[in-house]
Amino acid sequence: MATTEKVQVTKQHLIDPEICIRCNTCEETCPIDAITHDGTNYVVMPDICNHCMACVAPCPTGAIDNWQPVSVGSMYSIDEQYTWDELPAPLALEVPQENSVAAVDSGNDADVTIQQSNYVAGSQIPPWSASHSYTNLYGTGSVITATVSGNYRLTDDASDSDIRHVVLDFGDVPFPVLEGQSIGIIPPGTSAGDRLHHARQYSLASPRDGERPRYNNVSITVKRVVQDYDGNAVKGVCSNYVCDLKKGDQVQVIGPFGHTFLMPNHPGSNLIMICTGTGSAPMRAMTERRRRTRQDAAADECGKLMLFFGARCQEELPYFGPLNKLPKDFIDVNFAFSRTPGQPKKYVQDVMRERLTDLLELLKNEETYIYVCGLKGMEAGVLEVLQEAAAMGALDWSQLHTTLRQKGRLHLETY
Ligand code: FAD
Ligand code: A2P
Repeated sequence: MATTEKVQVTKQHLIDPEICIRCNTCEETCPIDAITHDGTNYVVMPDICNHCMACVAPCPTGAIDNWQPVSVGSMYSIDEQYTWDELPAPLALEVPQENSVAAVDSGNDADVTIQQSNYVAGSQIPPWSASHSYTNLYGTGSVITATVSGNYRLTDDASDSDIRHVVLDFGDVPFPVLEGQSIGIIPPGTSAGDRLHHARQYSLASPRDGERPRYNNVSITVKRVVQDYDGNAVKGVCSNYVCDLKKGDQVQVIGPFGHTFLMPNHPGSNLIMICTGTGSAPMRAMTERRRRTRQDAAADECGKLMLFFGARCQEELPYFGPLNKLPKDFIDVNFAFSRTPGQPKKYVQDVMRERLTDLLELLKNEETYIYVCGLKGMEAGVLEVLQEAAAMGALDWSQLHTTLRQKGRLHLETY
């Protein structure tokens, strides 16, 4: 007599290695540490992931949003996932309704999970008045080729830090972007195991109408990585490639990415911008957008711009000269230098602390939007000072923080 074996089928959460730009956002977001990575791929641990969806919205490319039917006993292990260059073809298995992703895929479910795990971060939505962003127009299967039209050193020649302003031109091919978005650059060649290098992400430093107005070009601010986070000598693959590009060179680009770290468009909205090093790129883009549109706006329609910008010293601060030339009634610029000989070490949060009264005024205003970009380490310190400013005005920080987050008014992008 023939026996029928029942196979229990489930959906396995997978990351598409072809689209993933290895930005680490998913790993940082996952409230239960179900995501990990090696030198090549980001992967989901099948025995830990509970399909909570917290990682899905923050992923800039959508690579995270893959769910494949598998039989319960044969889920893909992380060791298998590490070897993939692309996702395997889905198996022809039917997933029972109660196990389907759709059952947990509602925005509400994701929200509840985030709250239950006490997950605290910036907004996962853009400001209400932000323009519509286009994302993932070009992926690894459909890269766009840009031509380098400029590569200028931003840091002082005497400084060890090489940060560069690189201009990329897309010619006749449409590449619509907004301030706060980023692009991916695919360095040529292969890494260990003869695999193509994955794309690295760079924030745009130019506004939506181009580095040069009405040109189909963008700029990025790239730091040459010559040391890893522990201070050991390394040659960062992509940053060195980009920093060495010459005018006329061709570059493989994907993107644009990012649908939340966007600026408000409505008149009177204020921006508090806090950054270190190359985290200044999106702040330059937003500032330049405001500078270009300001001549058309009535004085009372122009919101306030307040910038806190940290670097080791003036010689290492990108855009130091141009920033100093901006009118004081247009932008309130505050520098924090941590290694100026003979001067006390200052971080952005120290300089913010010197401006608590002005920060409080802005925090009280519902039209204020906050952007933080650069070193991961500054996030906690910056949030602490915002809390101090709120406390000075007897504002309930936990309530204000939730409001800022829910209204798309607090944006954190650190790397
Ligand atoms: P890899 O070859 O990938 O790494 C070499 C070694 O250096 C590794 O050990 C790695 O851990 C370490 N390492 C990587 N990055 C750094 C770093 N910054 N400092 C010290 N050690 C490091 N970079 C910019 O220069 N400008 C930007 O505007 C910018 N925007 C970004 C926006 C987002 C959303 C994200 C996620 C990243 C951004 N980055 C930016 C970082 C960038 O994507 C690359 O990670 C960086 O250029 C290093 O790549 P690499 O190929 O040179 O180094
Ligand atoms: P420092 O490295 O002197 O302690 P980098 O040049 O590495 O990109 O860093 C940019 C600036 O950010 C430097 O002045 C650096 O100071 C500073 N910095 C380092 N850690 C923090 C932190 N936790 N909060 C704020 N700023 C920081």
